[in-house]
Amino acid sequence: HRHLLGIQGLHPPEIQHLLDLADGQVDRCRGLDKASDGMAGRTVINLFFENSTRTRTSFELAAKRQGAEVINMQVSTSSVAKGETLIDTAVTLNAMHPDVLVVRHPESGAVKLLAEKVNCAVVNGGDGSHEHPTQALLDALTIRRRRGRLDGLRVAICGDVLHSRVARSNIILLTTMGAQVRLIGPNTLVPASFAAMGVEVFTNMREGLSDCDIVMMLRLQTERMRGNFIPSVREYFRFYGLDRDKLARARPDALIMHPGPMNRGVEIDSDVADDFERSVIREQVEMGVAVRMAVLRLLANNLDNARRNQPFAG
Ligand code: CP
Repeated sequence: HRHLLGIQGLHPPEIQHLLDLADGQVDRCRGLDKASDGMAGRTVINLFFENSTRTRTSFELAAKRQGAEVINMQVSTSSVAKGETLIDTAVTLNAMHPDVLVVRHPESGAVKLLAEKVNCAVVNGGDGSHEHPTQALLDALTIRRRRGRLDGLRVAICGDVLHSRVARSNIILLTTMGAQVRLIGPNTLVPASFAAMGVEVFTNMREGLSDCDIVMMLRLQTERMRGNFIPSVREYFRFYGLDRDKLARARPDALIMHPGPMNRGVEIDSDVADDFERSVIREQVEMGVAVRMAVLRLLANNLDNARRNQPFAG
């Protein structure tokens, strides 16, 4: 593949290969192994049209730890603020011959559109409520390192699934790799139509969590609700917030996950978020660097062939 735009379309051996490559980078991302220069002479541009702490920073670290140059575009001070379009911005950056563009955008499909106009590699850093492929890969790596496998595990994804690109990418990856996925939330945020993705849908959190191996919580994305039903925080927490009482329904060794940013007291109680016997939230962030190291390296290696076939797109 030239780009990483989503988990959709990846086959199990390709996902396995990416996870294996990322696993091989964990010591390096922890600083236990010396940095590599495998991306020396490469240029990565981070182009984020939406806020980010984890994704943007970890792509920057992942590139720098392999010797690449990194440019962080400040969208608010770029010519986007003067009305330059997404495509004109992308074509302009492409003319400077970067190797990889990492793009986050509030509209679903925008990153794919951009990828069609450039001849560098493009990584989707999250597009609207569509996909966030590196998040699903880092979640899978975290689970695989803790449990040794993905297939046969029962994974609950809880909360605002409707607006979550993290949920979509995880559903696709986990079902592709043989896990049993349960979605839990009010039907306004987890419509029954999600069952078509090969998952079970629950509106009762205690029932849904029963015997789960993994409990993955999602942030309530009020900024994407635009006039839809916005639940009251207190009521939402009562029915769908993860606390000790509801967690007791899952397996005693169930792992607690959250992609971040967390809203404590809304979808998750601090007591369980900070229970580091079971909460792997910080480990997810750590695995994010390893996954992004593997993805950047793989795409940069694939690039030279692709460029020979398409010298200047646009
Ligand atoms: N999980 C995630 O994408 O976090 P950021 O929005 O901080 O990048």
